[in-house]
Amino acid sequence: MPDTAFETSATSLEDRFATAFGNDVGVESPLAASGMGVRLSGIDLTKPLTPAQVELLLDTLSQCRLLSLAGQDLDRFSLATFERFANYWGAPVAHPSNFLRGGKPAQQDGATDGAIEFRPYADRKVAAADSTLPGQVACMPHESPAVLVATNLLGDGDRDKSRLKDGGSWHTDIEYEPLPIYVSMFLVHHVPVARDASNGHWVERPVVSGPEPYFPGSDDELMALRKDLPLDGETSYADTAAAFAALPPDEQARLETIQVRRRLNEGDEGFLAPLVRTDPRSGVKSLHSPVWASRPGVRPPIEVEGMSSEASREFLDRLEKHVLQPQFRYDHLHRPGDVTIWNNYMSLHTSPPIKTGIDRAEDARLLYRLSCKGEPALTLPRQDDPSWIAANIPGEYSSPSEIVEV
Ligand SMILES: [Fe+2]
Repeated sequence: MPDTAFETSATSLEDRFATAFGNDVGVESPLAASGMGVRLSGIDLTKPLTPAQVELLLDTLSQCRLLSLAGQDLDRFSLATFERFANYWGAPVAHPSNFLRGGKPAQQDGATDGAIEFRPYADRKVAAADSTLPGQVACMPHESPAVLVATNLLGDGDRDKSRLKDGGSWHTDIEYEPLPIYVSMFLVHHVPVARDASNGHWVERPVVSGPEPYFPGSDDELMALRKDLPLDGETSYADTAAAFAALPPDEQARLETIQVRRRLNEGDEGFLAPLVRTDPRSGVKSLHSPVWASRPGVRPPIEVEGMSSEASREFLDRLEKHVLQPQFRYDHLHRPGDVTIWNNYMSLHTSPPIKTGIDRAEDARLLYRLSCKGEPALTLPRQDDPSWIAANIPGEYSSPSEIVEV
């Protein structure tokens, strides 16, 4: 059975980081009982990285699934610096909430045709966040279509429906395209510090009245696992590498032969994708998005090749129930100045219950997300082939030189 604990001992990991980044680097690992997560302190991302530093970060993520580079100085760090850093991991992907498609919002019921038109920041819904707590909380300046703002500074009507008040659904980022997202990362600007709910947390435990945001029909045990979400604004992760490693060898072997059909829109032919992925760097195997309907009502449920849709659901619900067990879970508490990266092939995640309609800075949650596709790059600028960009990145976006050279 493959070992998903970081093979290198914590001491030698510290040595490797000291050699690459200097003696002031702190290494905390793992962050979760499953072996997931490393927190690094003392690494200043306003400076460009050397190829050896990039290589070490890539190696670490390929083993540990999640990496948090804590304590960036937000007086000096910018979203341009953040996006430059993202370029080492892959090509940053323009987010649908930041462009129109055929003149309509792109993040809407699978409308996927039409010319792409990037929206300036002032025209995006999220610009309204700056007037919720004026003089106290505002977005860091940016125009990049790759920056997704995740915040509770907007009213329910202005938030996209994937980020529900009572928590989102378990998913990986953009698994429904033939080349899925490899890493996503948050830069944390504001986190809720209020803990004055009656349970001592930021929010009360949501009252579960129905299956939403999930489809009805999954068993009670799975529904309870799905909805067991943290109450202090943490992002919840499930470690699909540790969950795979914990299965008996014959079941692992069977899962490795399975292909699932993913579709962008109902009625598409879709494409086949392996359920188990092997990390090209570490060789660690993991389940990639083993969820029947990770975006209920937005993207079609997936099907296991050779199974009926009912059998597919039964099979995938069972797998999801395995992955969401507490021993594979990790609730990541965000802190301002954290840059937190996760490998989408090796994890599921979901957003927590979030307080809305806020009127004080202690309740503000403001994070910026970037997602990357394709191969990492040890040096910048990236040398992506324009035809690869055209085929894989919406709007053929690539970070402009003023970002890469910031
Ligand atoms: Fe996500």
